Amino acid sequence: MKKIAVFTSGGDAPGMNACIRAVVRTALNKGLEVIGIHRGYQGMIEGEFVVMNNASVAGIIHQGGTILHSARCAEFRSKEGRQKAFEQLEKAGIEGVVAIGGDGTFTGADIFSKEFDIPFVGTPGTIDNDLNGTDFTIGYDTAINTAMAAIDNIKDTANAHNRLFIIEVMGRDVGFIALRSAIATGAEAVLVPESQTDTEALIQTLKINQKRKKRANIIIVAEGDETGGAFKIEEEIKKRFPFYETKVTILGHIQRGGRPTCMERVRASRMGMEAVNALLAGKSNVMVGQIHNDIVLTPFDQAVKHHEEINPILLEMVEMLS
Ligand code: F6P
Repeated sequence: MKKIAVFTSGGDAPGMNACIRAVVRTALNKGLEVIGIHRGYQGMIEGEFVVMNNASVAGIIHQGGTILHSARCAEFRSKEGRQKAFEQLEKAGIEGVVAIGGDGTFTGADIFSKEFDIPFVGTPGTIDNDLNGTDFTIGYDTAINTAMAAIDNIKDTANAHNRLFIIEVMGRDVGFIALRSAIATGAEAVLVPESQTDTEALIQTLKINQKRKKRANIIIVAEGDETGGAFKIEEEIKKRFPFYETKVTILGHIQRGGRPTCMERVRASRMGMEAVNALLAGKSNVMVGQIHNDIVLTPFDQAVKHHEEINPILLEMVEMLS
């Protein structure tokens, strides 16, 4: 293998740049040429390729976003789109690809590398932490720290005004950001898609808190919760506590940006380095993950099926400790 490519795809995540840097520098150190593909699969289809050298990845380890840019690409879902992408890779002489992304990225990579003869190795880049085969995805640690800092600030206001805040955090299908940020901020309740929301129990908790004369009440809701999100929960609470001053905050994309934490940079760098090693060892169609500090390779089709239940002890902690 003489020439590889690297790209980022799907939602950006802090730490992607650290990973790109590690891929490029490991590959160069091992005597490979490296191409950066811009705008994910869309850029692959359109041949948006740039030659990467040591300087191309200088001064980026601490930056959020992705210097290669990202996209969600509908065209790659079609056979014609994938055919165009293959032709571009072949024309550029690319013999292996590192894909940094999440669920959609690996689903696409899985189909592609079974259709065409170019090995793909992935690193998990998504703030949602919703991939099997790794304890933590790139972006998750920074996102929970960003959410925690924002919730801390809101809590000051909740205390000052004796208000109930319902705060919605990201997590399309999972509640990992919600759960850890709820524990870390001492939230009164957390609503996640992995466990059925019991509105009656929530109302009871609020009644008890009223009796205890708690000044601030914080409810964290994962955007993917089956209740339909923070505004819906507010509606339900208002029906039962019409005079309670409630406020909704949607944290949104603030959680996707910002400087990656130290753990993020280290984890992303290691995964990037190991992705190149995996390609050179002849691996394909696998995601590089880290479990208990060890590097583990998981086939794409397994990585995208997140079987793990949310840890019930962590859910219990929110109730017990608030
Ligand atoms: O997958 C990461 C994520 O931030 C999810 O938490 C969220 O549902 C989604 O991406 C939002 O995507 P977009 O930025 O394309 O609206």
